Amino acid sequence: MDYNLEQGGPVLNPDATPAAADWKAPYVDNGADIKDPSRYYTAAYKAKEWERLWSRVWTIAGLVSDIPDVGDFLTYDLLHESFVIVRTGAGPEDIRAWYNVCGHRGNRLVHADFGHVTGRFTCNFHSWQWDIDGRLAHVTDAESFKPEVLACAPDLVPVAMDIVAGVIFVTMADDPVPLREFLGPVASHMEAFQVDRMNVVRHVRSEWAANWKTGIDAFYETYHLGSVHPQTQPIMGDITTQIDCYPNGMSRMIVPIGVPSPHFPDQSSINPGLQYMLGSVGLKPETFAGGPRDVRPALAAAKRQVSKRFDLGWETLSDVQLTDSFATGIFPNVQFGIHPEGAFLMRFMPHADDPQRFTYDTMTLVRHVDDPSFKVPDWMGLPDGIDCSGRERPEIEYKGIGEPAELGLVLDQDSELLPIVQKGLRSKGFKGPLWSEQEGRLRHFHNELDRYVEGEK
Ligand code: FES
Ligand SMILES: [Fe+2]
Repeated sequence: MDYNLEQGGPVLNPDATPAAADWKAPYVDNGADIKDPSRYYTAAYKAKEWERLWSRVWTIAGLVSDIPDVGDFLTYDLLHESFVIVRTGAGPEDIRAWYNVCGHRGNRLVHADFGHVTGRFTCNFHSWQWDIDGRLAHVTDAESFKPEVLACAPDLVPVAMDIVAGVIFVTMADDPVPLREFLGPVASHMEAFQVDRMNVVRHVRSEWAANWKTGIDAFYETYHLGSVHPQTQPIMGDITTQIDCYPNGMSRMIVPIGVPSPHFPDQSSINPGLQYMLGSVGLKPETFAGGPRDVRPALAAAKRQVSKRFDLGWETLSDVQLTDSFATGIFPNVQFGIHPEGAFLMRFMPHADDPQRFTYDTMTLVRHVDDPSFKVPDWMGLPDGIDCSGRERPEIEYKGIGEPAELGLVLDQDSELLPIVQKGLRSKGFKGPLWSEQEGRLRHFHNELDRYVEGEK
């Protein structure tokens, strides 16, 4: 099987221009060094990550569509820290972000994942209150405070916040790089797919017995598909995946969908997986005239018809954008699998105390379409009964360690394996990961992490 090492693997759309979302970025040579595996399990490395990475980098706190009405809020926890993001006005960017802490004695101010506040936030310890614009509005029994103590009573403390494509980011950095500069091309990719017109329809938060980077590593490559997820082979590329590395640790892989992997033995018939894909866009597999390589273009053509019928504006998308999975790595801890119909936003959240635990936080977004006859595709894996109208932001479904996340077979296969990999990373017999160029995004991610942790950034 051919693999072009010089250009960093396949190019899916040779006609794409540099401004296009599917353009193959110039190859980034990330070297060949072997990382010390202690980064995956020691408390010392975790402490450095907190100080050098998490307390300085932009991370995704939520979506604008999570808080549509004035007074709606969401909370976002990052290790031991917590933030509250609240809508303060009707304008698209009338959103403020505060440290979620009471200035009296340090109680957490807001405890719910999502909610609505009419007028003021009230601390549940001694009932101090703040307006949603952060101003301290009430001190219980204020007359019992010495004036010099009361003079120190604070407004809520803001945290830097910005929005791109309807996605809310925060950073604790004192002087952060502008968000768009940090994101680079990833910002325009999210916009090309109209992420701002998507709503979360399902949100599952599960605990995994592994380091957050063990999680990132497993989701950042398709090299393991044939071994761990063989059921993907009839309909999905692996070694044919396009890999792009961008500045600031951002990366992306485009996974071809609707075409068998070159590793799949049957390259001549319309296998049951491809039949399913054809059916998913309303084409009849039994009358389909072409071979397996004709399925992907047929899917793209059918999606163009859907766009026309529902006025979705997908005319600007290439065939690759219409059919394939744009798995976008937003440094440091997000994989955003974007499609025109919807997206999978996966956050790999480090545990506050234990370097060998992380929270896999996955949101399923669907494109908002007013016409109720628009059907969310089956392959998005949503269980029956999910409300896809976007009217109600769903509550988070929590799953403990070892509890099935109910996110489908692929995820079950990963969640079984990762705790075992985590143990192996600590073995005296393991000297560090040996990444192929198919795993080029891992090296790109870890090199950027090194720049933070070792003080270059
Ligand atoms: S800790 Fe919040 S009012 Fe006392
Ligand atoms: Fe996997």
